[in-house]
Parts: sequence; structure tokens; C-alpha cells
Amino acid sequence: MGEAIAVLSGKGGTGKTSITAALATALAKEGKRVLCVDCDVGLRNLDIPLGLSDTAALSFVDICEGGYSLDQLTAHPQFETLYFLTAPMNRSAEEIDADAFGGMVLSAREKFDYIFLDAPAGVDAGFRLAAAKADRVLLVTGSDPAAVRDAGRTGQVLELMGKENVRLIVNRINPKLVSNMALTVDDVMDNAGLPLIGIVPEDPNVTLAAAFGKPLLTYTKKGAAAACRRIATRLQGMPVKIEL
Ligand SMILES: Nc1ncnc2c1ncn2[C@@H]1O[C@H](COP(=O)(O)OP(=O)(O)OP(=O)(O)O)[C@@H](O)[C@H]1O
Ligand SMILES: [Mg+2]
Repeated sequence: MGEAIAVLSGKGGTGKTSITAALATALAKEGKRVLCVDCDVGLRNLDIPLGLSDTAALSFVDICEGGYSLDQLTAHPQFETLYFLTAPMNRSAEEIDADAFGGMVLSAREKFDYIFLDAPAGVDAGFRLAAAKADRVLLVTGSDPAAVRDAGRTGQVLELMGKENVRLIVNRINPKLVSNMALTVDDVMDNAGLPLIGIVPEDPNVTLAAAFGKPLLTYTKKGAAAACRRIATRLQGMPVKIEL
């Protein structure tokens, strides 16, 4: 039985989509069967860091409404065990049938080892869609005070939803401030009140890879790519030191 992982943050632009793509490709590289679902209804963009922006893709509504089945998805051209469902453009998150979406996630757990649900910013319908049926939540935050406060609030929303398996990813840590890193990360964990699963450095390759239409992990092995590979290893239950 596979595991559904929601990648969330209340605040916009923390790196949810970039990290979703990097974790998914890291796991697919290891032969895991992975499905990535873009839950950012109306503002989809997970196709870009997956290197799929020029490729036609079914949307999750095509599956939820029964027009297509999960068996009809086409594998990623570079990762043969990686599959993708985009978000619909022609409706709002409120119009999505949450039960049908939940049913799709449940049946995906029978076919895939990992299902990543890339949530939109905010704690509204799209956030709830992604979080509702997730077995595990990765809350992506920056280390600045506004992002940390927001991560704390988002953690409380998840607690009210009954979500227990919530882990923090602190993104965009400045590698030049490595001496302060332990302090920064401790502060973030204390303030957000959540345990950590990984840290990711500020790395221009994240934006460059997307601009060149390449998945980060095929563009570079260092920096944010290496950090995401380590998080992917932890997701599989193997301990790896937390470092930049
Ligand atoms: N570790 C990083 N180093 C440098 N740039 C990064 C890093 N992570 C993300 N970015 C950049 O930050 C921007 C926002 O990233 P991304 O789209 O992944 O965030 P998001 O949380 O999904 O945003 P939204 O809330 O709009 O969905 C992008 O330009 C991306 O390239
Ligand atoms: Mg996003």
C-alpha cells in the first residue's frame, strides 16, 4: 500500500512545488512508483520543475470524474516510474468534489509507492483537498519570522484537521550562514512547534533548472538536489544526518 504525502505551507512561494518535484524524482530514480498530483487548481505549475511543461497531461479531474483511469497515465520521459496529474484550469478548488478526489487518492495508493499532493498557498479548499487524505504532511517553510509564524499557524490548522504525521522542511537556508544553521533550525522548530525532516539550501539551480525545463535532479547533483535526495531517503524510513 502506497503513501500519500501532502506538501503544504500556508504562505505562498516557500518552495512546495519545487520540493515536491525534487522529492518525486529522487524516489523515482530509486525505482519507486511515484504519482505527482498538482492540487493548485487554476494556478498549476508542477509540470515546470518536473520538466513536463511541453507535455500534454491529464488533470486529476479527468480521473475523479471517471473519464480516464490511473492505468492510462503516461510515464515521465526520463523517469519510467514517475507519473503526473495536472490541476484543472477551468474551475475553482471549491468546485472539486472532495470525496471523488479522496477516492482517487485511495485507489492511487494501490498502484503507487508514493503519491505527492502539491498544495496551493493558503489554508482554503485546495489545501484541504491535499491534506484530507494524506498519510503524511510535509510543511515547507522559510526561516524568516513571517514564514515561521505562518508555519506554526498552518500546523495548528492541520492539528484541528486531526493530522498527526506532520514534518517541517526548512527551505532556502543560506549556505553562507552555516555556522548559524543549528540555531536557525532549532528556532524554526521551536516556533513552529513541529519536528524537522530536512533542510534545503538557497540554490540558484532550483530556478535555473526550471527555466531550462529540466528536473533539478537531472540538472545538478549538489546543493538543493542533494538535500532533497536526503529527504527522500528519510521518507523511506532510513536515517540520514541533517546537513546542508
Ligand atoms: N531552495 C531554493 N533555492 C532557490 N530558489 C528556490 C528554492 N526553492 C524554491 N525556489 C524558487 O522560489 C520560487 C517559488 O518556488 P515554488 O513555486 O516551488 O514555491 P511554492 O511554495 O510552490 O509557491 P506557491 O505558493 O505559489 O505554490 C521559484 O522561483 C523557485 O525556483
Ligand atoms: Mg506551488
